[in-house]
Amino acid sequence: MSSDNTGRYDFNKGKLEDFPFEDPMLFFSSWYQDSIEQGCADPQAVAISTVNADGKPSSRMVYMRNLLEEGIVIYTNYLSRKGGQISQNHNVALLFHWDCAERQVRIEGVAEKVDDSISDEYFAGRPRISQIGAWASEQSSEIDNRATLEERVKFFEEKYPDVVPRPPHWGGYLIKPSYFEFWQGRLGRLHDRLCYQKAEEGWRKFRIAP
Ligand SMILES: Cc1cc2nc3c(=O)[nH]c(=O)nc-3n(C[C@H](O)[C@H](O)[C@H](O)COP(=O)(O)O)c2cc1C
Repeated sequence: MSSDNTGRYDFNKGKLEDFPFEDPMLFFSSWYQDSIEQGCADPQAVAISTVNADGKPSSRMVYMRNLLEEGIVIYTNYLSRKGGQISQNHNVALLFHWDCAERQVRIEGVAEKVDDSISDEYFAGRPRISQIGAWASEQSSEIDNRATLEERVKFFEEKYPDVVPRPPHWGGYLIKPSYFEFWQGRLGRLHDRLCYQKAEEGWRKFRIAP
């Protein structure tokens, strides 16, 4: 990405003349691999947007922890703000931005909890401090001060001196996509935007204007 001192950028690292894959998950996977190989910062970082019961959206960053044929897995607290919203409305949007490759990918779909056994396995492989944190932090709830949180950390460290079990309110969501947009920055704002919309059979592919 090149910039001048007005903060305007011109993009010139790639192009999407045609649809490189029939299956958008393969397309996504190949761009994800590129982002790793090209050294993009935090390639697993993704913004996830959820909506509340009134249809008001909210977004926050999470990490993609697994990439499956059916979709993308993230882990979080099921009782968090996002978790509460997903339980009321399972429609979510994901946004990856791989700055070093001048690419973004927009994904829309539905989130569903993964099987407990999958969350158990992932949780068991986390560092102890993160495991304790999952118990100590009532994610998104109001707390009086930092000390309250640290006391809870101490409490759970003592409660679980050895193996830390997975809290029942902590686990994964599989986001099953029904829409993708692959965006590649191009010169003069004439970017490439290739879309995949889930159809009765397979995917409808189309290009949209930048
Ligand atoms: C780069 C980055 C990665 C993050 N990854 C996660 C994650 O994987 N899971 C998670 O619950 N929160 C993650 N967070 C914290 C969330 O952005 C957010 O603060 C938290 O999930 C609570 O969101 P909520 O109150 O909307 O539910 C991450 C934050 C950043 C900046």
